Amino acid sequence: MPLSARHPERRHNRKLTLPAAQGEAEVPIDSLPASGAGTEAAYELISSELLLDGQSRLNLATFVTTWMPSAGARLMAETADKNIIDKDEYPQTAEIEARCVNILADLWGSPEAESATGCSTTGSSEAAMLAGMALKWRWRDRRRAAGKPADRPNLVMGANVQVCWEKFCRYWEVEPRLVPMEGETFHLTADRAVAHCDENTIAVVAILGSTFDGSYEPVKEIADALDALEAERGIHVPMHVDAASGGFVAPFIAPELEWDFRIPRVQSINASGHKYGLVYPGVGWAIWRDRHALPRDLVFDVNYLGGHMPTFSLNFSRPGSEVIAQYFMFTSLGRDGYSAMMSNLREMAMHISAGVSQLGPYRLISDGSELPVFAFALRPETTNYTVFDVSERLRERGWLVPAYTFPENRQDLSVLRIVVRSGMHMEMADDLLHHLRAVTEMLESLDGPLPRPLASTTQAFAH
Ligand SMILES: Cc1ncc(COP(=O)(O)O)c(C=O)c1O
Repeated sequence: MPLSARHPERRHNRKLTLPAAQGEAEVPIDSLPASGAGTEAAYELISSELLLDGQSRLNLATFVTTWMPSAGARLMAETADKNIIDKDEYPQTAEIEARCVNILADLWGSPEAESATGCSTTGSSEAAMLAGMALKWRWRDRRRAAGKPADRPNLVMGANVQVCWEKFCRYWEVEPRLVPMEGETFHLTADRAVAHCDENTIAVVAILGSTFDGSYEPVKEIADALDALEAERGIHVPMHVDAASGGFVAPFIAPELEWDFRIPRVQSINASGHKYGLVYPGVGWAIWRDRHALPRDLVFDVNYLGGHMPTFSLNFSRPGSEVIAQYFMFTSLGRDGYSAMMSNLREMAMHISAGVSQLGPYRLISDGSELPVFAFALRPETTNYTVFDVSERLRERGWLVPAYTFPENRQDLSVLRIVVRSGMHMEMADDLLHHLRAVTEMLESLDGPLPRPLASTTQAFAH
């Protein structure tokens, strides 16, 4: 089933004129060419077509890495042939993956950091599926052992969760209990999390770095409230932390913040190596507190140097280069390099958010002091234009700054969001502010509302 829609006006052949003496090549778009164009022609054709993509460094919508040191990119290219599942053929890559798991378990306070339980994944979404399955399995085992029904599991989380958790619930038949936003509280709080739990709750998911505004959910407070629930009503609810972004930020610039395995109730954590782990797209991590947190019957064995190695994944074949690149970043930056990078990004995010708040028509929803990410809205008195118009005008200048509406209960609130990532520098930050000021002044000078067919009012962005 093709999931992409076809453009009705799309041409079915493209003619490529090559710069050198190679002449012309005619290439059909939707069917395999009868004869190949050759490597040089194919390279020219595809690389010039890709110029139509956006400029990734100006994409302030994505959390995913768009800049790596060239030595890291070179190492990735040199290791592109390694298949991570071939542990027997690439034992050193397997060793590097195990080291990364141990490094992260140590960073996040696991009691078994030197022989940690965890794995690499394609990203936080796959990690969420694996961690969610482990929680569902363990809940089911507890229910069966108690002689109770195990057919109506639910998962409690804020309405601000990333779509991967809704996917998990749909694919693995778990009821999603989405706690709505309320007033100016844009993420899960302890009392509302507990109010949604019952004996069928497989876990509460807390997010370290909400996709909507970069704010941290109060993991420790939620854990304390679940301790009280267990003491008072005997209902045991474990926690998972979705630290897709924050897992690589908080340990370096907020080490005193307790959100990780220092809290006994936290059973598993996911993070995206390709976000603030600083690797190009394709790597995430799932780490369990200890070996008891991952049921053995979810684990399969693959051949490894004549023996067996346990694996837990949704895929089989996958590039090893992503994991090697993660280890490269750990080795090249070290703890102080990550700390310097993250505090620099936070400083830039707070510099931009301070500039935005001084422009006049905007109010900050967050300021970039947790994740280097912040959201801002227009003040209610602005009626001639919307955040969607601001987003469109910035796009004309090359900047991708998404505008979107908050979820249920706060759908009245539309915001713009800026994600500050490695590869951004102060000059770029000031340039962005300069363009935002120019766009805002232009929109402020309107003496009536923008005609609605021109002004976009849609929710232009999916989380
Ligand atoms: C909080 C959160 N969880 C999960 C994800 C999914 O991450 P990935 O793209 O690595 O699958 C994201 C992505 O933005 C996120 O922000």
